Amino acid sequence: MVAAADLYYLNTIRGAHRILGGIGHSAVYLYFILKIVIEKIVKNRSAYRLFKKMALVVHFFRGLAILKEAGSLKPKSVFVSDLPQELENFEDLSWLFFNNFTNGGIIRMCFNEAAYAFKTVRKNQPRCLLEIGRYEGGSTMLISVAKSKEAKFISLDIEDRCNETIKKTLDKNTSLIMGDSKKFIPPCKLDFIFIDGDHGFNGVKADFEHYFPYLNNGADILFHDAVRSGKYILNEPAVNYFVKTLEANPSLKFIKDVGSIRHFKKNDDNKRFSSKNPSD
Ligand SMILES: C[S@@+](CC[C@H](N)C(=O)[O-])C[C@H]1O[C@@H](n2cnc3c(N)ncnc32)[C@H](O)[C@@H]1O
Repeated sequence: MVAAADLYYLNTIRGAHRILGGIGHSAVYLYFILKIVIEKIVKNRSAYRLFKKMALVVHFFRGLAILKEAGSLKPKSVFVSDLPQELENFEDLSWLFFNNFTNGGIIRMCFNEAAYAFKTVRKNQPRCLLEIGRYEGGSTMLISVAKSKEAKFISLDIEDRCNETIKKTLDKNTSLIMGDSKKFIPPCKLDFIFIDGDHGFNGVKADFEHYFPYLNNGADILFHDAVRSGKYILNEPAVNYFVKTLEANPSLKFIKDVGSIRHFKKNDDNKRFSSKNPSD
């Protein structure tokens, strides 16, 4: 729930932003009008330079207002005020995204990426799923709602920063494990893996190579922050570089890029990697 003090704080920030923004806009217009007047009529170079400096000050305050607003988003992102009664479909997850100042922002995925990951799980009905990197639990909630009730889903993170509301709301077949992804042995052979943990080259490579033998043939492999498709610029260069090294891998079939997600399927043909059972 959002405390009254938080709402007061948020309203103050929004009010301040509006006032500063309003002043900024008016000042910029005024500046341009005055600039034209001065240039065309007075032709006074020193006055012109003075107004140029004034414009810089105005821009500075506008920037400050925007930064203040942006700064207010992250600490507030943990509030979940309007959970729906039923969590069954993608539309029940709108509260995970940046909708307003008091809820949302829990998931670290863009809307198109989340929709694609949700659809992949819902359509392919994996029986055993693994997520590497849950952070506040946004993607965990998404995958947990998308999977079938009986499917086993493990979410792995080296730290416990999961949102408390999400922890309480997840179904009983979703397990939150704290530990290093490079050391964890999955309890079942995986049909789906979402790789969004260590974003360094060696880290993402180690995750892929460690879990590949535990994947069933035909398993879905989704790398997040992996591609720069269209106007999407928030990819991680090291992950991007690593997924490029997989392009010629005969054990993988490229499916699609959506946002920063690169989706592969494990081929039946396992020339490079041997298959392992979790008990091996
Ligand atoms: C980008 S965040 C995950 C965001 C989340 N998947 C989402 O979309 O909401 C990356 C997470 O990976 C975790 N992580 C980094 N290295 C890891 C490792 N070696 N093992 C497990 N988790 C790791 C971090 O603690 C962090 O919470």
